[in-house]
Amino acid sequence: MYNLGGRRVLLGVAGSVAAYKAVDLASQLTQMGAQVDVILTKAASRFISPLSFTSVTRRPTYLDMFQASLAEPEVHVQLGREADVLVAAPATASLLARLSLGLAQDLFTLSVLCSSAPLVVCPAMDANMWEHPAVQGHVRTLQERGALLVGPEVGRLASGRVGVGRLAERDTIIGAIRYVLGKRYGDLAATRVVVTAGGTQEPIDPIRYVSNYSSGKMGYAVAEAARDRGAQVTLVTAPTSLPDPYGVTMVRVRTALEMRDAVIQACQHAHALIMAAAVADYRPAQVSSTKIKRGKAEALSITLVHNPDILAETHVFPHLVRVGFAAETEDLVSNARRKLRERSLHLVVANDVTAPGAGFGTDTNKVVLVDAQGEEELPLMTKYEVAWRILDRVASFLRGGQR
Ligand code: CTP
Repeated sequence: MYNLGGRRVLLGVAGSVAAYKAVDLASQLTQMGAQVDVILTKAASRFISPLSFTSVTRRPTYLDMFQASLAEPEVHVQLGREADVLVAAPATASLLARLSLGLAQDLFTLSVLCSSAPLVVCPAMDANMWEHPAVQGHVRTLQERGALLVGPEVGRLASGRVGVGRLAERDTIIGAIRYVLGKRYGDLAATRVVVTAGGTQEPIDPIRYVSNYSSGKMGYAVAEAARDRGAQVTLVTAPTSLPDPYGVTMVRVRTALEMRDAVIQACQHAHALIMAAAVADYRPAQVSSTKIKRGKAEALSITLVHNPDILAETHVFPHLVRVGFAAETEDLVSNARRKLRERSLHLVVANDVTAPGAGFGTDTNKVVLVDAQGEEELPLMTKYEVAWRILDRVASFLRGGQR
């Protein structure tokens, strides 16, 4: 799992019925290794108790600035100064107005004024309020000042109406926090990375296709890890059932031919390409425009023709760091080494898809990293951890390390 490594999150909770959701957010951030300080506005404390937050963060929850200053005289300036990221969730119309105008009437707004950390704003309110020009004006001001707006989402609101105004999902907010922390501290900030994921689908007729068992999990993990390290990520993905990672540019494709065009386009200005997709090596020569009927024949043959080798074609980008995968069922390292050489890649990530805990659909993987210098066999780890190790190698190649 991604680790927030002691990063300090200052979470401001305002008076919305969605305030209870902020407890889950604070809990998850704490479990991910962050030090979470929570400030409740007066109105928020009518919806939820400070004890709920303290129970999950194991830290004091702050209410008003005068009470806080009695216990710790400097706290009103310290909280903002020491924070790595500021998060307003839920942010009400009233909190947005105070943040936009710099009205230091509550401890959270005051802390924001004392801080140079990035601000993530997650509004929650009724759709009419959200659409009001006064609220929209404050949101625009905050965005112009660099705040990241997350949500609100469309859904059922407290009023019973369905509209825009729901607090963004917890994992979307966490994705946004990871995104801004990556931009601030990540070693791949200012790096453009293209990642591919999923198994391509090669149509036979309007309702059938040829594909493989790829879930897309490895590629999505690489995209998330690169995002968390500050990279600008484009994810070229074949169909999967995974949610879009926050802050990643998504390019959806279906076939190998579509993936080839999207990858070539995305690589024009990229520094690194990581091809985790399981690209179909062949596609049906003919695609029937109508459904192929059962018929009377005992057997049916489909002629397959070669798809382009996408990784090989990216050879035209001389400065691109290129990483391939090798999904094997036998002769793991020798096959990987052949793929490294034939496509003149920087790195091949080889995995035996038949090994326990490795391969398609699992959350873990067991790989060998193969490059010109030799092989490194990694123990069984999560796909996210594997992604991190791949990116360590990419970072070193980008710094001018040996191929
Ligand atoms: N790949 C690609 N274009 C293709 C096929 C594969 O870019 N048409 C990429 C994959 O994304 C992967 C790497 O090449 O990063 C190796 O893919 P794999 O299917 O393991 O190997 P192949 O080279 O196709 O060889 P083989 O089928 O013989 O194992």
